Amino acid sequence: MNLERAGLALLRGLEPETAHGLALRGFALRRAAGLAPRSGPVEDPRLSGDVWGLPFANPIGIAAGFDKNAEAVEAGLGCGAGFVEIGAVTPRPQQGNPRPRLFRLPQDRAAINRFGFNNQGMEAVAARLERARGRGARGVVGVNLGANKDSEDKAEDYAAVLTRFAGCADFFTVNVSSPNTERLRDLQGREALEAVARRCLAARDAAAPGKPVVVKIAPDLDEAGLDDVAAAALAAGVDGLVATNTTLARDDLLSAAAAERGGLSGAPLFERSTAVLRGLARRTEGRVPLIGVGGIETAEQAYAKIRAGARLVQLYTAMIYEGPSLTARLAEGLSALLRQDGFSSVSEAVGADLRA
Ligand code: FNR
Repeated sequence: MNLERAGLALLRGLEPETAHGLALRGFALRRAAGLAPRSGPVEDPRLSGDVWGLPFANPIGIAAGFDKNAEAVEAGLGCGAGFVEIGAVTPRPQQGNPRPRLFRLPQDRAAINRFGFNNQGMEAVAARLERARGRGARGVVGVNLGANKDSEDKAEDYAAVLTRFAGCADFFTVNVSSPNTERLRDLQGREALEAVARRCLAARDAAAPGKPVVVKIAPDLDEAGLDDVAAAALAAGVDGLVATNTTLARDDLLSAAAAERGGLSGAPLFERSTAVLRGLARRTEGRVPLIGVGGIETAEQAYAKIRAGARLVQLYTAMIYEGPSLTARLAEGLSALLRQDGFSSVSEAVGADLRA
C-alpha cells in the first residue's frame, strides 16, 4: 500500500471536515518536504495548450472548495494537475455554517456540503497566494469569487475580491451557484447575471486587464434558465462558463447521509452536470471556452466532458476517495484516449459529440 492509500484509509475513520483539513495539511507538508511523488503537472504535447492566452500543461484542474484558503497551492500545482482554483474567497473572513457541514456518501461515491463560504477572507488568502508566487509557484491559479453572507451588494463583493487578487491570480470565477448562501442563485437570472458580470468585468478591466472572468453555474437550471445564462454571459462579454456547481437534487442515493441539506457532488452529479455543459456548448457555439466539472472519477469521464464541449475540466469529490494523485492518472488516461481516437490535441476533441 503506498503512502497516499494508507493516508486515505486513516482519514476515512475521521469526521469528514477534520479529515479534509488534515489531508490538505499533509498534502502541503509532503510537498514542502520534497517527499511528493511528482513535482509538476503531467506534461504531454497532446494535453498542453493555451486557453485565454494562459499556458495549461494539461486540462485537468482541481475544483474550487478543495483549497479554500490557498494553503496547498504548490502541492496542487505539483501533483499532476494542469491548474488549480482556490476559494471561494469573500471580502471579509467568514465562519460559514455550523458543523457538521460536510458529509461523505461512500456507497454513492459522493459528498454533501453546506459550508456556506467559510474562508479566511481576501486579505489573508491573497497574501498567502502572493507568498507562494514569491517562492516560485508557477502554473495557472484561478480564484473563486464569493460574497459575504450579510452583504447587501453581492456584485460589489465579487469585484472587491477580484481586485485584491488582480496581481496574483490568473483567472476569476464568479460563483453565483453555491446552494449554501441564501438567494445567491437568484443572480443566475438574465438581468441579474448580466449586471453582476458587467460589474466584475469592469473591475477586471480596471485592475487586471486581459485576465479571464468566467461564471460558474448550477446544475439545477432548466432549459429556460440555461437560455438566460448563455444570453446574459455572452451579452456581458464574459470569457467562459463553468458547468457545474453542486446540485440540490437527490435521486436514488444509497448512503445514510443522503438526507443532509446542502449541495451534492461526486458520481451522482456526472450525468446532470454533463447535460448542462452540453446545453451551454450548444447555446454558446464555441464563442467562449467552457470548463466541465461534476462527478469526474475516470479519464473516460474527463474525456466525455471534453467531447460534450469542455475545453478544461475540474474535479473535487473523487479526490476525497482517491487522493490528489488521481489528477495525474486522469491526465495520462486522457492522453491515451485522445490518441486512440486520432486527436492530436485537446482542442480538436472539444465538442466532438455535438458534431457527431
Ligand atoms: C465545493 N464546490 C465549490 N464550488 C465553488 O464554486 N466554490 C466553493 O467554495 C466550493 N466549495 C465546495 C466545497 C466542497 C466540500 C465540495 C465537495 C464542493 C463545488 C466544486 O467546485 C464542484 O463544482 C462540485 O463539487 C462538482 O465537482 P465534483 O466534486 O463532483 O468533482
